[in-house]
Amino acid sequence: MERAEKKRARGEDDDADAGPAASRATPGEPRVDHAWRRREGHSVDTVLAQGGFVGHRDGFRSNEGGFLGDATGSIIPPIFPSTTYARVGSRMGYDLRHMSTPRHRDVISDQVPHDDDVFFIGDDQTRGNHQTTPRDRDQTEDNKKHPLMYSRPDNPTYTQAESVLASLEGGADAALFGSGMAAVSAVAFATLRAGDRAAVPKNCYFAVRVFFQEWCERYGVDCVLYDCEIKGDLENAVAFGVDPAADDRTADEVDPEFGDGKCKLLWIETPSNPTWRVTDIRSAAAFARARGAVTCCDATVLTPLLCRPLTLGADLVMHSATKYLNGHSDVVAGAVIGRKTRTDDAGSTDAFPKVWDRLLRARSFGGSVLGPFEAWLLLRGMRTLHVRVRAQCATAAALANKLRSHPCVAAVYYPGLETHPGHAVARAQQSSPFSFSSSANACATTGSNDRKDQKMFGGMLSVRCVGGGKAAVMTTSLTKVWFPATSLGGVESLVEHRKTVEGPSSETPDDLLRLSVGLEHADDLYRDLSQALWDAHGRIMCGSAKFRKMLDARKASEENGR
Ligand SMILES: Cc1ncc(COP(=O)(O)O)c(C=O)c1O
Repeated sequence: MERAEKKRARGEDDDADAGPAASRATPGEPRVDHAWRRREGHSVDTVLAQGGFVGHRDGFRSNEGGFLGDATGSIIPPIFPSTTYARVGSRMGYDLRHMSTPRHRDVISDQVPHDDDVFFIGDDQTRGNHQTTPRDRDQTEDNKKHPLMYSRPDNPTYTQAESVLASLEGGADAALFGSGMAAVSAVAFATLRAGDRAAVPKNCYFAVRVFFQEWCERYGVDCVLYDCEIKGDLENAVAFGVDPAADDRTADEVDPEFGDGKCKLLWIETPSNPTWRVTDIRSAAAFARARGAVTCCDATVLTPLLCRPLTLGADLVMHSATKYLNGHSDVVAGAVIGRKTRTDDAGSTDAFPKVWDRLLRARSFGGSVLGPFEAWLLLRGMRTLHVRVRAQCATAAALANKLRSHPCVAAVYYPGLETHPGHAVARAQQSSPFSFSSSANACATTGSNDRKDQKMFGGMLSVRCVGGGKAAVMTTSLTKVWFPATSLGGVESLVEHRKTVEGPSSETPDDLLRLSVGLEHADDLYRDLSQALWDAHGRIMCGSAKFRKMLDARKASEENGR
């Protein structure tokens, strides 16, 4: 028998050049032809762990160069701090160089294989379409579009992070920004002009609401707030901007089916910060599209592991990359990912690429770029995204369940609870964080074999304190494990009194505490919070020794019962 054949018979790898990713078949996983695997795609876990470079190492191995770290053999990409790039001057011209980064190497196409079992990124819409992504259609054209000239429009370090994000979301392209809010304002610049309307959730990250309501209105853009839990409210905001009952325009002035045509942007945030209300992305995006509005979904809290709005019909996905994507509370960054061009039923291609082009120009002209060091940190943070998110979701779900019956907690807001009004929609539209991963990974974490059923609902939840606003604020000063601080999505757990941060215009209940669950042990987190809730409750509500004693007894019995 040939050596290779013998090795195959023993189940060993006969592709000596297959590289590190190829040699990681886990027991129980279907065996995959390694050459195919390198050619066709990898699981999300592998792509993230290797920072998007998996499958792009030919130059690295052959010593020919091409991969960012090829010159030295470094397995971590370098940072490109240079603000400018030397041209290739000659007597005949003054040419720009073209960067050889993964933007030109098609991370997307490489990672969207046909197989639907374990090793893929992408869903039914993206699978099989990988030959047609704009990045790989015409390499020469792409190079022309992304020459290296100056770091405000383009920089090789952030291009790598963008490629990974576009792959994860199943989008055509991604753009990084200097912050989440810079990404929000670029979307507004790209979609709205004076006289247009934006439909924005009443309940969303407060600075986004204030930006549209107060800031965009200065420039003649009308902002209408909707409540995603009130049936028909979103649709009215998109179609008419007002409650139709209060609309005094005649039928001639407004087409009742298509609305007034003024809404050009529907903003969705699901689940919404900090009460975690759920919006049905598919139906909202379809409604907006039919009325000429672009839908942008802020998916900061779910990350592409738990929900991919582009596959549900949204046009743009926005992330505060400051949060889960980076995950270590040491970078402020934003990202927008755009869908592929869609052809409508009548066969005509829509105007979406123009929106994307305007977005990139908004970043370049607005100067809202991310620094190369921050982009590098973001890429490093994303390499553990899958591991962090799964752990954070599991702990958040455990805490939500326990806190539900805590005597000092009046309500728990967490879409993973079956009692949550948005639970069914969340379950239907969110993906399992295991659906793109190996079965071994799923089993180790949850004990179940049925990966596709393992829906998770994020690492964010809120509780309302029985003792009201004072008890809530007091609780934040009594925790020892939870940091009382703003932001979310980091490895350390944070507790925050949102009403204080959002100010008087906020509709957030005064007794609400927002919890961002980190990577600490669930028992430590519960014990610490429970203790702080009891103590705050005792101090605020029951100054007398008799009540203190009663509370101490309840606390002790709760702890004994654990
Ligand atoms: C859901 C959500 N969207 C957007 C933002 C704004 O992001 P950044 O702070 O990175 O500008 C935040 C920040 O907290 C957020 O939580």
